[in-house]
Order: sequence, then C-alpha cells, then structure tokens
Amino acid sequence: MNKSKILVPLGKKSYEVTIEAGIRKKISEELFKIGVKNNRKILVISNKEISDLYIEEFLKNLKDNNYQVQIFLIKSGELHKNLETLSEIYNFAFEFGLDRNSLIIALGGGIVGDITGLAAATWLRGIEYIQIPTTLLSMVDSSVGGKTAVNHPKGKNLIGAFHQPKAVFIDPETLKTLPKREFNAGMAEVIKYGVIKDKELFEFLENEKNKNKIINLENEYLIKIINSSIKTKSHIVSKDEQEHGIRAILNYGHSFGHVIENLCGYGEFLHGEAISIGMKIAGKIALEKGLWSNEEFIRQDNIITSYSLPNKIPKINKKEVITILMGDKKVRDGKMRFILPKGIGEVDIYDDIVESLFLKYFS
Ligand SMILES: NC(=O)c1ccc[n+]([C@@H]2O[C@H](COP(=O)([O-])OP(=O)(O)OC[C@H]3O[C@@H](n4cnc5c(N)ncnc54)[C@H](O)[C@@H]3O)[C@@H](O)[C@H]2O)c1
Ligand SMILES: [Zn+2]
Repeated sequence: MNKSKILVPLGKKSYEVTIEAGIRKKISEELFKIGVKNNRKILVISNKEISDLYIEEFLKNLKDNNYQVQIFLIKSGELHKNLETLSEIYNFAFEFGLDRNSLIIALGGGIVGDITGLAAATWLRGIEYIQIPTTLLSMVDSSVGGKTAVNHPKGKNLIGAFHQPKAVFIDPETLKTLPKREFNAGMAEVIKYGVIKDKELFEFLENEKNKNKIINLENEYLIKIINSSIKTKSHIVSKDEQEHGIRAILNYGHSFGHVIENLCGYGEFLHGEAISIGMKIAGKIALEKGLWSNEEFIRQDNIITSYSLPNKIPKINKKEVITILMGDKKVRDGKMRFILPKGIGEVDIYDDIVESLFLKYFS
C-alpha cells in the first residue's frame, strides 16, 4: 500500500483523509482537488520545531500556485495550548483579514491541530480548516473526528467545540524527524485500535517482520497501520460524532491513563505511555471478570512492551486514584464505568465495576 484514502462519512460534513508519502510537497494540487481555489486566503498554523523542518517547501508550493498565505507560529507544549495562544491567533487572523471564505491549515502535532481546530470553529462563527498532522498520535487520532480544544487552568481540554476539518492530509515521511519516544507513544493508540476493534491490525503488529518494518519507518507499513487506525476511528465517529455512546470506546485505557498522567505529573509519562499502562490495568480487570483469557491478556502485554512502551504500574495512592476517577465522571452510584476488552478486537462499556477490582494495583 503506497497511498490510501478514507472517507469519514458525516453527511454534509463528510471529508476524506489522504495518506501518501510526500503529500506535503504538493499541497496546492491537493487543495485544488477539493475545490479550494487560489483566490482564498490561507493561514497556516504551526510551531517553530515543525516549521524549521517543513515550512519552507510547504509555503513555496502554495506561493508558486498563487495562494495568498501567511504563517503563524504558536509556542510549543501543552502549557501554551490555552486561551492566550488562541487569542494571539485571532489577532493575527484579524490583521491578515481572514474572512469567511478563508481557510486555516494546521501543520503539526495534536497541540497545533487542537488549537487550530478551535480557532477555525470560532473565528467568524466557524470557517474551514485542514489538518496536516505530523506526529503519529495526531495522524491516527486527533486529526480525525473534529474534537478541538484548549486547556483551562483547572483541567485539560475544558474549552472546545466539535468542528470537522474539510480534509486531512497525512505524510508518513514526516515521522522520520519525530523523536522516537513520541513515535512509540503514538503506537499505543495504534495498539488500542487493534484491541478495541481490529484483530487483523493487532496480529499485523504482533508479527516480528512487520514490527521491524514499522519501527524502521517504512512508508508502506506506516500507511498500512495509519490507514487501519483511521478506518476504525472514522467508523466509530460516523456512528456517534459527539460521543453520546459508542465513541466512548475510543477511550479504552484512557481512564487509568488520565489517572497516571495526573498523579505522576504531566511530563513524566507521554500520553501514549500512560495509555499503555491504562490498557494493562483494564486488561487485568477484564481478566479477573473472566471477560478475556489469560493468553489474550499476555498478548496485549507483550505487544505493549515490544513497541518499547511501559507496562509497569507506577506507585500511586489509592485515595488519589479515586479522586481523579470521580473528577473524570467515571463514577455512577458508587460503581465505576470502564471500557474493558472481551477479546482481541472487541471491547464493551461496563458500568458496574467495584473499586476492589482495581484498587489493589495501587498503594
Ligand atoms: N482532538 C482529539 O481528538 C485529540 C485526541 C488525542 C490527543 N489530542 C491532543 O493532542 C495533543 C498531543 O498531541 P501530540 O502527541 O501530537 O503532541 P505535540 O503536538 O506536542 O507534538 C509532540 C512534539 O513533537 C514535535 N513534532 C511534531 N511533529 C514533528 C515532526 N514531524 N518532527 C519532529 N518533531 C515534531 C512537536 O513540536 C512537539 O514538541 C494533546 O494536547 C492532546 O490533548 C487530541
Ligand atoms: Zn489518547
């Protein structure tokens, strides 16, 4: 597979995700294909690290094709995914004269994508935007599905909107410059798709030969796993765009993942690393409830470690675990609500989990 297209079917809001090596270099051609003519202003949002690597040829391609384009760089890091940065984007958009017919492009990881999406959702009550994700996590997760957000001092992603992109362009070649640890963290979400809905993907990832090709960033293999991941995400999002039901299964491993991110301090574990440990805990609960076999639990554990992801539960206090879970609204009438595996490729939502089933894993 050296190119793939996936439709995200959402009625009038439907869009395509195109995965192709080198697509970033021919962005004008792609924009033309989706009907973005060069009389429209384009605001590209990125950060310094990414723009140092990719912006020059990206802008050249747009300018050579007579697009009126300007770039705004946001400060890197979760700390700057906030209202202040959003406000700076609005100021820049005003100066540039961004109108209802203009377009915003997010070139970067999940942070750039989330804040750009929210800027596009709110500027002039909503204008079109395009996602060009450059981390594995943003390729397989945040760029598709239309969740946009910034953080509030009281919590992550508290201010946001659902706003679907007009298109998503994914260039797996950009993963070559991504720090290895960030790549592995993205693999946690890919593994997640395998466990929740795609046994074939799970088995593909387990295969030693495939694993080596993936780790060596061979385009064909990257396209295969990104394509499978997005297919699952697209399928689930199209059934439940605003997470009233089934979309919650995408949060497999995330309840305990959030606990770990919160209690170990953001920074000790990357999101994907915390999710790996979260999947391990969910796997253990499922094992005890007899939902899946020991063999399946071990397969999940092995795959997590084989992609250099952590699976050891850090020392955290039981009481604090409960406090975070309560804050996450995972508790209803004293019972906890979790997504648990019923086998490789199948999960369900359980809202009858008693504390004793998981508190023993904490100190
Ligand atoms: N909207 C959603 O549905 C959704 C889903 C999951 C996560 N998120 C959000 O995504 C964010 C995390 O995204 P992330 O993991 O992509 O992190 P990120 O955006 O911080 O990127 C990670 C780091 O890699 C750098 N980088 C990005 N692409 C690179 C490349 N190709 N080469 C070299 N360096 C590169 C970035 O500058 C950054 O330092 C969080 O804020 C999270 O809340 C959103
Ligand atoms: Zn996640």
